[in-house]
Amino acid sequence: MSAPLRYGLIGTGMMGLEHQRNLNAIEGVEVVAAADPEPASLAAAVATAEGRAIATFSDYRELLAADLCDAYVISSPNFTHRAVLDDVMASGKAIMVEKPMCTTVKDARHILERAQTYPNVFWVGLEYRYMPPVQHIINVAAGGELGEIAMVAIREHRHPFLVKVGDWNRFSENTGGTLTEKCCHFFDLMRLIAQSNPVRVMASGDQRFNHLDERYDGRTPDILDNAFVIVDFENGVRASLDLSMFAEGSVNNEELSIVGRTGKAEAFIPSGQVRVGQRKKWNRGVAEETITDDRVLVEGFHHGASFLEHLDFAEAIRNQTPALVTAEDGYWSVVMGAAAHLSIDEGRVVAIRELL
Ligand SMILES: NC(=O)c1ccc[n+]([C@@H]2O[C@H](COP(=O)([O-])OP(=O)(O)OC[C@H]3O[C@@H](n4cnc5c(N)ncnc54)[C@H](O)[C@@H]3O)[C@@H](O)[C@H]2O)c1
Repeated sequence: MSAPLRYGLIGTGMMGLEHQRNLNAIEGVEVVAAADPEPASLAAAVATAEGRAIATFSDYRELLAADLCDAYVISSPNFTHRAVLDDVMASGKAIMVEKPMCTTVKDARHILERAQTYPNVFWVGLEYRYMPPVQHIINVAAGGELGEIAMVAIREHRHPFLVKVGDWNRFSENTGGTLTEKCCHFFDLMRLIAQSNPVRVMASGDQRFNHLDERYDGRTPDILDNAFVIVDFENGVRASLDLSMFAEGSVNNEELSIVGRTGKAEAFIPSGQVRVGQRKKWNRGVAEETITDDRVLVEGFHHGASFLEHLDFAEAIRNQTPALVTAEDGYWSVVMGAAAHLSIDEGRVVAIRELL
């Protein structure tokens, strides 16, 4: 039995604690340290350690200097990722950085370039592809059951952004904007399903209802709460995103459909339902089932996806095999979010090459 992999958490707010609960439940790994400038967040990490020893630091650079870890999980606010990554990458240790990899295309490009020669696993936390029903229909599409893939449609109808430590998520300058911060997940799924890179983006959206009555140092939040985005891919696949963040009155928060030449697959989150049908059988041949994964020991806020992602991350570290969610995935999802924002800001179709 090899020694447990030792993890350090950088940022122990909502997502950092989800990572910690996942890691607590996984054999052969342990969270040995945490860094967060907010005392309440550090105290929450100590509580979540449930009696296990955990070294705490108010500055992540002290955590790096202590050199206690084999891997770092970065869950600090989006706007900190670029600087934190620059320091953590000097360690040469395995890294999982939360989405979005960075808030701007320039910073994402910088990190991508560094990651390409990084001597250890560099993983971006785009875990929606690990949601069991989503993974199921991705596999159905990749296995050829739907024929040549032509269209991907994603709808996210959910609650508004939650309250964060220091309210950092109320301003686009901190998050990269809603379509980068939140929707990088969906752009990543589109690219993964299309098996192609985007060429152009058209989007329409605004801040219709949410957070308009809030004030932070006299400023009103500027984050979009609804949008439609259309993406064309190099190989002719087209994809759409329908986002509403004032749609609590929904059974499912995410609905995905993939349509190919011969069939269609759909997944619904959180119900876990999937449907797969073939054109030649019309609606009589649509098979419906609920997909779960018995390996999930911690559901977290993401229906077990971040738990499953950690199983693969740990395997990649142990075997020193490439990340399965890469800096390139992180980069493209930021590019697509930025293109969608530019399209909204300027009311026009944006060619992806304008941003590269
Ligand atoms: N993958 C997902 O589905 C998912 C879901 C939620 C959040 N996230 C991402 O996780 C990250 C954290 O989000 P959250 O919801 O946990 O926010 P949060 O506000 O709940 O927690 C962020 C924590 O980071 C700490 N922090 C701030 N600056 C820091 C620094 N320089 N070093 C270390 N810690 C620092 C804050 O004090 C806070 O405790 C963001 O990048 C967010 O986009 C991802």
